Amino acid sequence: MAKKIVAVMGSYRRGGITAQAVNEAAAAAREAGAEVEIIDLLDKRIEFCTNCRACTQAPGEKRGECVLSDEMAGILDKLDAADGLILAAPVNYFNVTALTRRFLERMIVYDYWPWGALAPKLRINKPSKKAVLITSSAMPSLIGRLFTGALRALNYAAASVGAKKAGTLLAGIASLHEKQYLTEKERRKARALGRLL
Ligand SMILES: Cc1cc2nc3c(=O)[nH]c(=O)nc-3n(C[C@H](O)[C@H](O)[C@H](O)COP(=O)(O)O)c2cc1C
Repeated sequence: MAKKIVAVMGSYRRGGITAQAVNEAAAAAREAGAEVEIIDLLDKRIEFCTNCRACTQAPGEKRGECVLSDEMAGILDKLDAADGLILAAPVNYFNVTALTRRFLERMIVYDYWPWGALAPKLRINKPSKKAVLITSSAMPSLIGRLFTGALRALNYAAASVGAKKAGTLLAGIASLHEKQYLTEKERRKARALGRLL
């Protein structure tokens, strides 16, 4: 049976560098026989987490239930059912975009954090799927890796759903031109990551 890959895209620019990298990874995964769905957060109605923590109170591996009613649960059902994930967001103000952060905060349903406990614990401890993490920044790639929290945030999100990081791409120097394209090296890396899934 074909592997199911779900990509979550948190860029404000359709066709921007982040979207290009996701599309390349998705195309390579499809060519290798996988079914790929790309979820663009721009198209989704996702409310802000209210920090009520109702979803974190009951123990167990199953994700908690959020009291908010929007498109989030449907997206998480897809992530849960997937064999592999692509999580992608550009760097804004040293971390993922607010669009992505709003989505990530709602992933607290994957944590057990009853009142009285100092810190949350991930419900899923054994990863059962792979994740590829993609980000882009004005900073060169290495500097972006060292000085931004984007990959760390995406990695925690991956771990929350029970996915182990299989590879990362940070497309650096991504904002020189209004319309910019991935370098050939970045394109090849994105495709290699897609095949990996
Ligand atoms: C509001 C804003 C904040 C940004 N903050 C950072 C930053 O802190 N560090 C950085 O390297 N690039 C920063 N950038 C540049 C973006 O990361 C870059 O334009 C991004 O890779 C574009 O991705 P996209 O083509 O998918 O839109 C910022 C851009 C904007 C508009």
